[in-house]
Amino acid sequence: MDRISIVGGKALNGSLAISGAKNAALPLMIASLLTPERLTLKNVPNLADVNTLARILRNHGVDLAVDGKRADPSPYLGETFHLTARDIVDTTAPYEMVNRMRASFWVLGPLLARCGEARVSMPGGCAIGTRPVDLHLAGLKALGAEIDIDGGYVVAKARKGLKGARVVFPKVSVGATHAVLMTAALAKGETVIENAAREPEIGDVADCLVKMGARIDGVGTSTLRIQGTSRLEGAVHTVLPDRIETGTYAFAVAAAGGDVELKGARKSLLETAFAALEKTGVGVTETATGVRVSRNSGALEPISVETQPFPGFPTDLQAQLMALMTRANGTSVIRETIFENRFMHVQELVRLGADIQLQGDTAIVKGVKSLRGAQVMATDLRASVSLVIAGLMAEGKTTINRVYHLDRGFERLEQKLSGCGASIERQVSG
Ligand code: EPU
Repeated sequence: MDRISIVGGKALNGSLAISGAKNAALPLMIASLLTPERLTLKNVPNLADVNTLARILRNHGVDLAVDGKRADPSPYLGETFHLTARDIVDTTAPYEMVNRMRASFWVLGPLLARCGEARVSMPGGCAIGTRPVDLHLAGLKALGAEIDIDGGYVVAKARKGLKGARVVFPKVSVGATHAVLMTAALAKGETVIENAAREPEIGDVADCLVKMGARIDGVGTSTLRIQGTSRLEGAVHTVLPDRIETGTYAFAVAAAGGDVELKGARKSLLETAFAALEKTGVGVTETATGVRVSRNSGALEPISVETQPFPGFPTDLQAQLMALMTRANGTSVIRETIFENRFMHVQELVRLGADIQLQGDTAIVKGVKSLRGAQVMATDLRASVSLVIAGLMAEGKTTINRVYHLDRGFERLEQKLSGCGASIERQVSG
């Protein structure tokens, strides 16, 4: 398994390009199942999760072509995917595939809507909590699906077709909102989703569905109204920039000090996290081409933050913020309200010398004078990258094991950081 080593203490300066959003690219690729026509997605990030989903979609019968090198290289545009699900030849998403990535479960609704049946393995346990799928299933049932659990698989059928309905989510769920939104686009009549997730990635998928011929109102609000149609068309859509990658590098600059422009980033996608960063004493300004983050040698002020669904502070940046606050000038309080077990990074940060106490869903982080490099390991994507941030601040060398977690969601991380002056390298295992 590859490892990444960082020698801390180097400031970051210059610019780095923000990639397309993983959490928009994945559902957008799944939306290709809704039409026999070609869906072209631009700015798709080159990530392990994208490749995993590509394999799953191919197994259902989706043709996938990726454009080669082009003469007009915009440094921040990722790959262009052409996905065509002319005939869906297999409506089963097997355990061996779904097991590797939870979002692959989201094929359930679109397969059901298109083919009247689907059989998708229940996603397994996950390092950040139990993550049930009850809301997905309740949403699909409301649209008329019959659902059975058989041998670890969700078996969904809609013999009489799907019919629009009112779906009221008792809890905000990004995945369940994506699932019902996509499925309702091919259901008969109107669907209203109440308490829908408002994450920008939902808006990106809704925009793409509209280009495919769906009628959707309320995008960006917690009530979505979808007028179903019997056939969706092909479309061309550009994946929005990754706000979590943006926030991660913003926190990295705050940690290391320096001045970096995050090219292609959109400040409006991350107002709460940028406001938190500004409170710590870091400069954040919008530029014509992205967002500039700067920190001089001044102390970092501690802050208290609670994770919340969008537009609140994202759970996907909680670990990165915690890494930063380990060196703040005082005590920060960080509460995780979305996932019950998303503190796996704490014990690894402590190995680097951080002072963190856990009290239920809350971490009390007392800033320390210095961190010291060590061997660390992480169990999920965002936890891994929080160790990169800590490594940038630590004295000496930090080695992060199990880098495959990082490769699931961060494209060319070492190149992006070393391009700004970080001392970071990957040891590829033989
Ligand atoms: N939940 C249920 N029942 C359900 C679905 C969710 O109880 O049927 C609970 C979850 O257990 C959790 C809460 O609802 O406590 C919110 O979960 P949500 O469904 O919103 O999460 P998700 O759709 O599985 C997406 C992102 C996650 C991100 C969360 C929250 C993708 C591919 N994944 O997951 O991203 O943390 O929303 O914003 O979009 C990551 O990228 O590292 C990542 C984990």
